[in-house]
Amino acid sequence: MTSDRLFDRATKVIPGGTYGHTSPASSLPRHFPSFTRKANGYKFEDVDGNQWIDFMCAYGAIIHGYREPSIESAVDQIRKNGSVFNNPHEVTVELAEKLTSLIEFADWAVFAKNGSDLTTWAIRVAREFTRKPFIIKAGNAYHGVDAWCDPGMGGRIPSDRSDILEFKWNELGQLKDLFAKFSNKIAGVILTPYHHASFAASEMPNKEFWQGVRTLCNENDAILILDDVRCGWRLHSGGSHCFFDFTPDLSVYSKALGNGYAISACVGGDFLKKAASDVFLTGSCWNDAVSMTAALYSLRISEERNVAQSVLQKGKFFCEGIEDIANDNGFEFNMTGPPSMPYPWFNGDDNLFLIQKFCEYASQEGLFFHPYHNWFISNAHTQDTLLDAMERSREAFVNLRKELD
Ligand SMILES: Cc1ncc(COP(=O)(O)O)c(C=O)c1O
Repeated sequence: MTSDRLFDRATKVIPGGTYGHTSPASSLPRHFPSFTRKANGYKFEDVDGNQWIDFMCAYGAIIHGYREPSIESAVDQIRKNGSVFNNPHEVTVELAEKLTSLIEFADWAVFAKNGSDLTTWAIRVAREFTRKPFIIKAGNAYHGVDAWCDPGMGGRIPSDRSDILEFKWNELGQLKDLFAKFSNKIAGVILTPYHHASFAASEMPNKEFWQGVRTLCNENDAILILDDVRCGWRLHSGGSHCFFDFTPDLSVYSKALGNGYAISACVGGDFLKKAASDVFLTGSCWNDAVSMTAALYSLRISEERNVAQSVLQKGKFFCEGIEDIANDNGFEFNMTGPPSMPYPWFNGDDNLFLIQKFCEYASQEGLFFHPYHNWFISNAHTQDTLLDAMERSREAFVNLRKELD
């Protein structure tokens, strides 16, 4: 297979062959392809010419479908004049204006390339503003590749995390205890809109969670940072805090923001503008007009087509359908988390055997379902596509039942 041959070649010149979330260790080696050749809408083709119905959307970077025509034509126009210059392109200002008009608490925006660039920068802004050292996060929450939060073990020294504290998602009592124990030392709390850890069912916030977090931050003069990198534009067109009805002080976006073009943004209120301008921020190709244009058009489409609402509805249709099919085959199976980015969970499947086998069988039907990561629905998934995927997944559930019996 071309995919295997390419992977062998890759291991000779790239540590690990492929890495991070695309490494074989975090997927299903021999069932999932290692390399993709092209993609369009809701489908992709691997290097061996296999066609897949995609439910990972480049791990969330695609929301309108691969190669969304109006984004691609806007980007093609911009690219004719170049993209990275000595100064930012005017689209930078337009994009900042767009974000501050869409996100009601935002008075300013900055841009980078990856989510990690700006989750790390945001905690520095919190420290600069408060002049305090500690940051609180939820245990098992992913905020990027930097040493203060990465899930790997390599290359770390104890001081990397000496100022990072953790509490269990939804346990407001634990958060309160941390504020009491490290009194007047907490600069900020960084959290995702809901808890979407890998290898575990997603957990939505309890009814009182977000208001409780907001109150504790206010009482302790700590900055509330929302890491909306994965959920942004999939729950609400004004940012995921609107979906859960609270107001953060800073929000970080990436993934769906550029519909596949590398861009991230952090927005904040006026009171943090001075601190934001005092924390150094730059990158070689960050002032990239192509990605900024993609983001501008992607945001316009999200607004015009009410995409967050649309992917939530499509996801609900799909999740309910697939849960029914699982139940027909005798499985207790739930799509956890919001339906636009559901995480599949077989009750009692703590060693992940059932989900792994199910995704193996699904891969034989041309479905790219991930066993350990939340899936993503794009707005290019049509009702017919979702019905087709449900029928294919029926085969996978039937085969799994046969194997178990
Ligand atoms: C919640 C969250 N925060 C931060 C990041 C890091 O973003 P990036 O991979 O663009 O650096 C991710 C990436 O998956 C994420 O899901």
